[in-house]
Parts: sequence; structure tokens; C-alpha cells
Amino acid sequence: MRYDLELVKLGKTFPNGTPAVAEFDLQVQKGEFVSFVGPSGCGKTTTLRMIAGFEAVSIGDILIQGRNVGDMPPERRPTSTIFQNFALFPHMTVRQNIEYGLRVKRLRGAERSRRVAGIMERLGLGPIADERTTALSGGQRQRVALARGLVVEPDILLLDEPLGALDANLRKSVQHELKLLQRNVGITFVFVTHAQSEALTLSDRIVVMNRGRAEQVSTPHELYTRPQSAFVARFIGRNIILDGRMLGCADGIATVETPSGVLRGRVNGPTPSPGAPAVLSIPSEAVDVVDAAQAPIDADRLVGRLASRLLIGTAVQLGITLGDGQEATVESHASRYAPGWAPESVALVWDPADATVLAAPTP
Ligand SMILES: Nc1ncnc2c1ncn2[C@@H]1O[C@H](COP(=O)(O)OP(=O)(O)OP(=O)(O)O)[C@@H](O)[C@H]1O
Ligand SMILES: [Mg+2]
Repeated sequence: MRYDLELVKLGKTFPNGTPAVAEFDLQVQKGEFVSFVGPSGCGKTTTLRMIAGFEAVSIGDILIQGRNVGDMPPERRPTSTIFQNFALFPHMTVRQNIEYGLRVKRLRGAERSRRVAGIMERLGLGPIADERTTALSGGQRQRVALARGLVVEPDILLLDEPLGALDANLRKSVQHELKLLQRNVGITFVFVTHAQSEALTLSDRIVVMNRGRAEQVSTPHELYTRPQSAFVARFIGRNIILDGRMLGCADGIATVETPSGVLRGRVNGPTPSPGAPAVLSIPSEAVDVVDAAQAPIDADRLVGRLASRLLIGTAVQLGITLGDGQEATVESHASRYAPGWAPESVALVWDPADATVLAAPTP
């Protein structure tokens, strides 16, 4: 199997001794949309810059379509990069900005004009072709940056927080456009973002990075239903997390003693030994909110107080303050709750098979 992009035990230590990336393995298929998420400083940009060829690799290999690009300068790689601030040339017009990469590649005039016209048409940039980029709105600048990245017809587009500069509303619509565009052009996208909601909506797969390492590589759905580490479970903000102590494990179902009682979950990754600190992660999607007085006594449950109720169309968002003070948000169908429904206390119930038990991180 030949991948479009492959990272093999990729590592980077800066000359000043800062370790930025370690043991990074990844295989990306042609046309896949892969996002890197993780806290600031975890190595996202450094990895992207190594793929683009702007940063030397310390150890390991980068393969593009099976070819080791280790010795290839950036302009010869079949990649194109879009940076957070777009890095447009202020003294040039929109058309000149887009044309620039083709001049660097020494394309003939006629071919250059054909490609520039094509991409401007596709991204609706015709009407502003002769404007200076300093005169453009955030969304327009973003589109010019995309056009400039795509006009060279890369096999892989690398995007480093390309929506970071946009306000929330614009961001949503540009996100949508970006996804449509990616589907149409069929090229591989490697997308770096701080916003995990963005990664969850856009990506085929997500890489969660932590301290230079890839903690988990999986589909968005797997990521929030089956985190492979306590770090990932916490990082994906939709989970209810309980710290506890491992009691035992049978047939892949572990029992954990938590301050809120003994609860169960499926083990993912190494099974913590009895007595060891463990973390229980319950995806809020798997949770049902019921009147505590009516909840089955012998089922796994958490008891709390209904703190808020927000109607969003036919959905309702319930805010619950749990016994340990933790706030949980559970979404459900509005018709399940009568308008005046306000029990003394509520219970969160779920199928233990939907919860995940993970080893607690070593400090
Ligand atoms: N040129 C450099 N020289 C030395 N250390 C660097 C250099 N560039 C980055 N680093 C360090 O490498 C680590 C990874 O940085 P990187 O920029 O890749 O993180 P990031 O995940 O992109 O963070 P952010 O979300 O803030 O953009 C950090 O500790 C950073 O301080
Ligand atoms: Mg960065």
C-alpha cells in the first residue's frame, strides 16, 4: 500500500536542545483530511514545517507517495502551505499574489494565466482580482491564501490554523467552504487547529498530540467515544471524567471505585492493575438524564442537580452539576422533557459498555 504521506518515527530536537516532536508515526491516504490538535507547544507547527521542508528532520523519515523527501527543498515537494496569518504580499494585487508561486516554478505565461483564472473562478475571486490584499476582509484574505496554495496544484495542502484569524461566524461558513473544496479537488489536507470542534467537523481522522507525541490517531467518532488515554479523554471536552481506583477487570469490563460510587467501563489500552489509579470517561452522548427517584438503583449512575436547560430547536441542552461539583452538559431531544420538568435531583445513566476505563497518567 502506497500512502500519500507517511511519517516514520519522525522526531525533531531544536539546536538549543528543545525536544519538539518524537516518535511520530502516521499514514495518510490520498484525499484524506487529517487534523492535528493538541495544547500549545505540543509540536503541531514543527511537524507541519518538517513535512513542508522548512524545518530539518532530526530523526526518522517523511515519505510522500512512497518517496523519501528528506533531501528535497520545499519548492520541489508536492506540498503547499497556508499559514495562520496567510502571509500575503501586501504590495501585490490578489491576482499577483496567486500568480507568485507559478512564477517561482517558472511556468509559461499562457499556462500561468489559465491556472490563475481557473482558481479565481472556483473561489469567486474574479471581482477583486486587481485589489491590493491590504484592502480585503478576513474571509477574502483567507480565500486568496487558499487560491495561492491550490494554484500550484499540490498533492498535499498543509494548513496551519488557517481560520484562526476569523471571527466565529465567518469561521463557520469558511469551514464549510473548505470542506466542500477539499472534497471537490480531492487532495490530501493536513490541518492544524487549536479548535477541536473544528477538527471534529472537518476531519476524516484526527491526531491528538501531547508533548511532541501522537497520543491517538483515529476518526472523530472513535476519538470521543473511545479515548485511548486519560489525556485524550480530558482534552476532548465532551466527556464526563471521574478519577478513581481500579478494583478489577473481567471480560474487558473494569470496575472502578470513584468518589461517586463503584462504576464500570470498557478497558481501552493497558489494563491498570487492581488498586492502581484509573480514570473513567463517559461520553456525554451516551448519557441519559432521568428523575433520580425513578432511576434504577442497581445501574451505574451519577446523581446531580439540574442547573440549566437550553432549547436549541428540537434539541435540549441540559446543564447538570454533579455531586463532585463537576459540570456536565448532556444533549437530548426536547420532546423527552415536559416544559415544567424539574425533579429534585437528576440521575445520569448510561450503558457501562459505552464508558472507557484508562490508566491514570503518571505525573
Ligand atoms: N525555532 C525554534 N527553536 C527552538 N524551539 C522551538 C522553535 N520552534 C518551536 N520550538 C519549540 O518546540 C515546541 C513545539 O513548538 P510548535 O510551534 O511546534 O508547537 P505548536 O503545537 O504549533 O503550538 P501552538 O499551538 O502554540 O502553535 C515548543 O516547545 C516550542 O517552544
Ligand atoms: Mg503552531
